[in-house]
Amino acid sequence: MDALAINGGPKAKPTPYRTENRYGDEELQQLREVIDAGRLMGPGGKVQEFEEAVAEAFGVRHVVMVTSGTAALHTALAALGVSEGDEVITTPMTDIGTVAAILALHATPVFADIDLQTTLISPQSARERITDRTRVVIAVHLAGLPCPMDEMMALSQRTGVKILEDCAQAHGGKYRGRYLGTIGHAAGFSMNESKQMSTGDGGFVMTNDDTTARIAGLFHDKTYIRDGSIGYGDQPIPFFAPNYRPSCLQAAVGLAQLHKLAALVARRDAVARRYYAELGDLPHLHLPRLAEGGEPSWWPIPARYSGAEATCQEMRQALAAEGLSIGSRIGPAGNILRTELVREKRYYPLTDAVPAFWRDTVYDDTTCPNVDTMQATVMRLPVDQRYSDEDIAQTIAGIRKVWAHYFGTP
Ligand SMILES: Cc1ncc(COP(=O)(O)O)c(C=O)c1O
Repeated sequence: MDALAINGGPKAKPTPYRTENRYGDEELQQLREVIDAGRLMGPGGKVQEFEEAVAEAFGVRHVVMVTSGTAALHTALAALGVSEGDEVITTPMTDIGTVAAILALHATPVFADIDLQTTLISPQSARERITDRTRVVIAVHLAGLPCPMDEMMALSQRTGVKILEDCAQAHGGKYRGRYLGTIGHAAGFSMNESKQMSTGDGGFVMTNDDTTARIAGLFHDKTYIRDGSIGYGDQPIPFFAPNYRPSCLQAAVGLAQLHKLAALVARRDAVARRYYAELGDLPHLHLPRLAEGGEPSWWPIPARYSGAEATCQEMRQALAAEGLSIGSRIGPAGNILRTELVREKRYYPLTDAVPAFWRDTVYDDTTCPNVDTMQATVMRLPVDQRYSDEDIAQTIAGIRKVWAHYFGTP
C-alpha cells in the first residue's frame, strides 16, 4: 500500500475535479428569445413560461418565481398565514435564509434537533417543540435528502401546523413517487449557483393550494394585481409586501436548467450510489440513512465519522492531502443557535435593541446536540453531475487508502 500523501506518498487524486461550465447553448437560446422580445421584466413572458413549465414538470398546481430561496421561503410563510407572535420550527443546521424568512415576518424561529442517522430534522424533536403558537414546521430537505414526509404530514394532521418544504437543495428529489415540494402545504426553492437548477440567483414557491398561491402571487410583487383588471392608480394595496420579482433573464436560464434537471439528478444518483456501494463497509463512516420511499437529488453527502483511533481532524487532513474534496462543515453558519443573530437576538445591523416580538424568547445553544455532533464529525463526500467517473473512482480509492492506513481495512 502506498504511503499516505500527508506522509510524503503519492496523492490518490492528483488531478482536479472536472467542473466544466454548466451553462451553454440552451441558456443562450432562451436568453436570446427574451432579448428579441424586447421585454426583460416579469411577471408574464418568460417568467410565466418558467412557472408553467415547472408546475407541469413537478406535477403541482401553482409555481411563483421569485428572486432567491430566502424570498421564496419568506413569501411562502406569509402566504401560509404566519404573522407576528407565531412560532415556526426548523433546524439550526440549514442556510440562514431559512431563519431569515421567519424573522422577516416577526415570527419566532424555534429550533428542533436533527436525527443523526438521517442528518435531517427529527420529526420527534419537532413534535416536542410544538406549542399553541406554532404555525409552521419547515422541513429542510438538506443535501437533497428527503425528509420523512409521511411523518411530517401526520404531525400536521395531529396538531394543525402546516408543513413548508425547504427544497433549496432538493430540486428533482422524490418521496414515495412524488416530487419534493409537492407534498407539504407549500415549498420554497433556491436557484443560486450552488443548486441543482441555477439562475445565478433566484427561486420559486410551489403549492397545490389556490389561496396560498394567490397570496404568494400578491406578496412577491408589492401586492400589485397585473391581470389588467385594475386601472393605473387604483391598486388597492391590501397589505404590506416587498418586491421579489425576478426578471425574464433569470427565467430564461431557469427554463434551460429545468430541461437539464432529470439528467443531472440521474448522474448525481449514479455518483451517490457508488459511494454507498463502495464505502458502505468502512468502519466509523456513516452515510445518511435514507427515508423509506425517498429518492434524493443529492448534494455533497453529509457522511459522519465516529472513530476514536484517529481524530476527525487528523482524518480530514489526511483526506485533504490526498487531493480529495471532503467538506468539514454543513452550511455557512454551522449551528445557527450559535450565531450572533440568534445568541444575542441581534435583529438590526446598527442597534442591539431587540424588537418586541422577539424579546421574551430564550435560546439555549445546547438544545440541538446532534447538530453539534454532526458539525464536529461530518465528512461531506463530493457530489456534482460534472465529476468524471475517474474523479469518483479516485475519491473512493483515496478514502479507502486513508481508512486502510488507520483501520487496516482492505
Ligand atoms: C437549505 C437552504 N435554505 C434556504 C436557502 C436560501 O436560498 P438563497 O441563497 O437563494 O436565498 C439556501 C441557499 O443557500 C439553502 O441551502
